[in-house]
Amino acid sequence: MNCNTSSNNERWIGCAKLIQAVTRHFGPHAKKSIHGVQHWRNVENHGMTIARENGADMLVVELFAWFHDSCLVNEHIDDGHGYRAAKFAEAQRGKLYNLPDQSLDLLMRACDGHTCGLATTDITIGTCWDADRLDLPRVGTQPLEAFMSTGTGRRLADQMRLQC
Ligand SMILES: [Fe+2]
Ligand SMILES: [Fe+2]
Repeated sequence: MNCNTSSNNERWIGCAKLIQAVTRHFGPHAKKSIHGVQHWRNVENHGMTIARENGADMLVVELFAWFHDSCLVNEHIDDGHGYRAAKFAEAQRGKLYNLPDQSLDLLMRACDGHTCGLATTDITIGTCWDADRLDLPRVGTQPLEAFMSTGTGRRLADQMRLQC
């Protein structure tokens, strides 16, 4: 967790505790899974890059990175993991982090909707989803500009394509 660079540190209860909790929740394979800890770090990094440009809620983006795949029950098809992540994240407010109601709503919508393959005009939710998609090269898939929600996400996807 990139706590020191977040502009929202005052809203945190504890980053290390949160990382430990989501890792434990995911299961013993969290450090080896293609959808596990390394992916969450990558999503956080992409999310911070985008949020620094577009003003998205950085804490929501960071929390999304660590929660969004934490409830996967298998590595292949699990359409319900976004909804479960939203409910898990909601249950941890006040224990692992603090967010006002409006930001919690964004976090839950971002987690719940990230499995649907959609784009959005909401800058914070769009930053979350773009950050997740920008890590698709880990599974051999090129992120496509057409599926990005933010201008920065489109630019980064384009740069990745040019590097291929
Ligand atoms: Fe996911
Ligand atoms: Fe993901």
